[in-house]
Parts: sequence; structure tokens; C-alpha cells
Amino acid sequence: MAASRKMALALLAQANGLHPAGWITAGGPTDCAMDIGYYAKLAQTAERGKFDLFFVADTPAARTDKLNAWSRHPQYMNCFEPISLLTALSGHTSKIGLGGTASTSFYEPYNIARLYAGLDHLSHGRAAWNVVTSGNNYAARNFGLDALPSHGDRYARAKEFVEIVRALWDTYDDDAIIYDKANGVYFDPTKIHALNHDGRFFKVHGSLNICRGPQGQPVIIQAGASSAGKELAAETAEVVFNSDDEPAAAKAYYDDLKGRMEKFGRQPDQMKILSGFAPLVADSRWEAEDKYRTLQEMIHPDVGLVRIASDLETDVSDLPLDEPIPLDRIPKSANLHTRYFEQIVSLIKEQKLTVRQLWQRYERGNKRVLGTADDVADVMEEWFSAQACDGFMMVFPTLPDGLETFVDKVVPELQRRGLYRQDYEGVTLRDHLGLARPASRYAASGEAA
Ligand SMILES: Cc1cc2nc3c(=O)[nH]c(=O)nc-3n(C[C@H](O)[C@H](O)[C@H](O)COP(=O)(O)O)c2cc1C
Repeated sequence: MAASRKMALALLAQANGLHPAGWITAGGPTDCAMDIGYYAKLAQTAERGKFDLFFVADTPAARTDKLNAWSRHPQYMNCFEPISLLTALSGHTSKIGLGGTASTSFYEPYNIARLYAGLDHLSHGRAAWNVVTSGNNYAARNFGLDALPSHGDRYARAKEFVEIVRALWDTYDDDAIIYDKANGVYFDPTKIHALNHDGRFFKVHGSLNICRGPQGQPVIIQAGASSAGKELAAETAEVVFNSDDEPAAAKAYYDDLKGRMEKFGRQPDQMKILSGFAPLVADSRWEAEDKYRTLQEMIHPDVGLVRIASDLETDVSDLPLDEPIPLDRIPKSANLHTRYFEQIVSLIKEQKLTVRQLWQRYERGNKRVLGTADDVADVMEEWFSAQACDGFMMVFPTLPDGLETFVDKVVPELQRRGLYRQDYEGVTLRDHLGLARPASRYAASGEAA
């Protein structure tokens, strides 16, 4: 392994953190979800820690049932739409990448191409789009459907969607705008191309109305764990979030995904795989474990049950909380989040957990580490050195305190070990991640409009 290989770090940013009880216990304001000043400080803290990416997850829906349970765990119930938030944050930060989710099931490609091209200009080359197919029926019901289309159809649409967006990002050559005052010509008509796309899901005949951005194309993120998800990632993704919580499984995923790239004419280093990593850092292991136990005990049974129902894709609220879950209650297959489903099923089958134990142990695809800064750095080093990942998607149970402690205590240790950058060396998100700026397909082919 090259000595200079450095890990990438992203922050999964969500108001008070990802733990259901985070909003109650986090050492920060509880009324921060609509506070741009709060997010600005969070992004600046991540930038102080030289993070590659500030990332905002999303679903275009609020929950509309079991509101008594969700009222205790308000994820996605009071949140900004990511592109709006990231646009505002571009003015409060100067280096960190700004990535946000937008669903291929509920947008049109033209909107997405235009919005992320704009974000790339506004942020001077720091935009990234997380391509998702969406995994809940609340969203489907907001867009004229009773339920999500099948997994296969969602990914077929996503593939065509991404192809169109990327083609639209190329409709202006890099040097299309010429500002030729002497001849009164603003742009060179031979350097603007129209897309002529007629596909299964979309018909798009036109060009974008914004010139090519600093990164050429914003960075494409993806997080699929299913076979269809991995194929889409292998073909198009430049950053992938992995949800395996053990290094051997993460390594198998890493090798599998990078191995699939060749058939699309891509090299393994054109993709950075970031593993979900959820540390709780304290001055001693005992203290970290104690803090975590306190948090877990705060999960209200109603919240535990809706979280299991979401990812196991079946309601278990009729079962006794303290008896093992009967195997015949496990659905045959997943239609929403494959890896989360598999992880819950394996906990039920292998550890014979009760319902209560299940919601206390299930980590939703993140590697949990409870310990000192050294303990956390040790695990990160182990995963990174084994090439189980190229870096980490940091998921803090509570924010802003989890991030602040990590930046103050773990980042210097990673730097001391030579595993992490001392400072940003470039300007764009592509620079941070070591990803080349893509040439326009038209410039590459020499084709004029
Ligand atoms: C770190 C991370 C962030 C994600 N963010 C979102 C998100 O914001 N919105 C969403 O609908 N899905 C999100 N997902 C889910 C994935 O995009 C994907 O839909 C899911 O893993 C299921 O894909 P699969 O069916 O190919 O396994 C995220 C997954 C991970 C691991």
C-alpha cells in the first residue's frame, strides 16, 4: 500500500445527531433544525477537522402514521431540503464538499442537473449529488403513487436518470461562454449541445441553461447494497457509502464493487468507498459505554418498534417485547433497504434476540466504536489499512458534541499516524477526494453542435 494513502472523511449531518434520543441529550440547542447558524457552525467544525464532505440525507416525505412514536424520534419530520441548505452553507464555508440526497424516483433529471450545476458554481466546485431511489412509501404517496415501484423498476429509472443528468452537465463545453464584446457574441454557438434522449422513463430534448461547473460534473454519490445498486454504483458512482459493520464484510463489498467497475471502463481509484462509522468518544472506555447505554435505554418502546418495522419491513408490535422473535415473522425478501434488512434478519436468526434486544443492538449499517480517541483511531486504522474502505462516513449519535470531540481528539491522532491530511491541498471536492475532473463527452469526441 502506498505510504501516502490518506483516508477520506464525510459527516452525515442531521440536526442533533442520528440517535433517536439525540435531540434530548445532545450538548447543543434542541431548536436547531431550522437554524442556519447552527448548521454553519457544524459545517465549519467539520471543515476545521479537514473533512472532505458535509452530507445531508433526505426523503421527500414526513411520516403520516404512528405519529405518537415518531414524535419521540423526529427524523425527517422537521428538516431542510438538502440543496437549499447546502446552497446557504456554501456561503459559510470555503473548502468542505457539500453533498445532498435527491431521489431519482420523484424528481425529473432536468431539475436535478440544473440544481446541482448551480450548487457547484455557488460553492466554487464543492457539489455532490447522492443518487437514491428512495426507500419508503410515505414518499410515494406524495407523488401520485400508493406505494414505491418495485426495486428493479426504481433502479432501471435511476440508471436512465443518471445518464441524462450527466449528459445535461456536458451540454456546455468548458469554453462555451466567450464574452466576445468586440463582436457582440456572448457564447460560442458551436460549443453548446442539445441532448436528444428518448428512453423508457424519460424524454429529454434540450440543453441545460447554466454553463459547465468548476468540477466539470458534480461528484456522484451512491449507497446501494443490492446487486442492482452495486451495478449502478460501479457504472456511475464516485463516492459510495457502505453499510457493513464488520471489516471482513466491508472488504468483501469493497472488492466486489471495485471489481465490477472494469466492465464499465472504469479504474478502481475512480471510486472512494466510505464505511458508515459511529464512534462515541470519551476519556475512558467505561465512560463511553456508560454514555451509550444511557442513550440506548432512552429509546422508547414505540420508537424501537417503528424502527424495526421500517427496516424489517413488517410490523412486530403485537409480539411480546422480551421473547425471541419467531422466524416465521421474517419477510421473504426486502423491497426497501437490502443491507439493513439483511442485518436485522441475521441478528434475529443468529442471536435469537427479543424485540427489545433487537432495537437496542441494531446499528443500521454503522460500525459502532465506544472508547477513547486511541481506541477509535485504532479501529479506523485497522479498516483503512486492510483496504476495507477508502475512508468513513461519520455518523455521530449526538451532535454537535460528537463531532466536536472527534475533531479535537481523534483527528489529531489520525494525522499523527499519517493516515489523514494535515490540511486541504486543493480547492474542489474532486481535489480533496483525488478524483479527476471529467472531460466533456463532446470535447472528448471533438463533436461540434
Ligand atoms: C450513509 C447512507 C446515507 C443514505 N442516505 C439516504 C438518503 O438520504 N435517502 C434515501 O432515500 N436513502 C439513503 N440511503 C439508502 C441508500 O441510498 C439505498 O437506497 C439503500 O442502501 C438501499 O439500496 P439497495 O436497495 O441497493 O440496497 C443511504 C444509505 C447510506 C448507507
